[in-house]
Amino acid sequence: MTEHIYAHEHPESDRRREGGFTLWFTGLSGAGKSTIAHLVGPELERRGLVVEYLDGDTVRTHLSKGLGFSKEDRDTNIERIGWVASRLTRQGGAVIAAAISPYEETRRKARGLVEEWGAFVEVHVKASVDECARRDVKGLYEKAFKGEIKGFTGVDDPYEEPSAPELVVDTEQHEPEESARLIVEKLEQLGLVESRVAA
Ligand code: ADX
Repeated sequence: MTEHIYAHEHPESDRRREGGFTLWFTGLSGAGKSTIAHLVGPELERRGLVVEYLDGDTVRTHLSKGLGFSKEDRDTNIERIGWVASRLTRQGGAVIAAAISPYEETRRKARGLVEEWGAFVEVHVKASVDECARRDVKGLYEKAFKGEIKGFTGVDDPYEEPSAPELVVDTEQHEPEESARLIVEKLEQLGLVESRVAA
């Protein structure tokens, strides 16, 4: 019997494009993930990379529209982001994913998908619940403390800190610009982006 080899299964067309990677930001709401993502992204673009953002808030208005915040829905959200990140990584893109992604096991799954095609760089964007609540950019912590929102991460829902992230940036210690600089420096150390030659 003839075996059919479909294009998408063919080793030649399945070869990874050079240089793709996913930067995966995990951390509490308000820790600074999106802010830092939008500082790192332009810097990578200045170095000639094609950047795509997969931000939890944005993904939830499109790809994950209709999902809530139960463990099951959060896992589905993260698995979708992981899957898209892996496809973009395969195409040589620099993906910046920024979602709370509270569960270690689910982040590990996302890592597995991405690492088929390129590097996965997990960055714990770290700030205490107290500090995030003090910032309360979206006013959600106040609602969560009053019980108006149930199952809010860090208040009455779990956040599992990454056990072995490639990098931790403490946003109580560093300004967003400094955190972004540390992340780009990490990418340089890992050989994922070239160091900038001083003009
Ligand atoms: S994740 O858990 O699935 O990774 P994601 O990063 O996409 O979460 O979305 C988090 C954002 O949703 C928060 O920044 C916040 O604005 C909003 N949000 C609404 N309800 C909750 C909740 N119960 N827990 C955490 N974030 C919530």
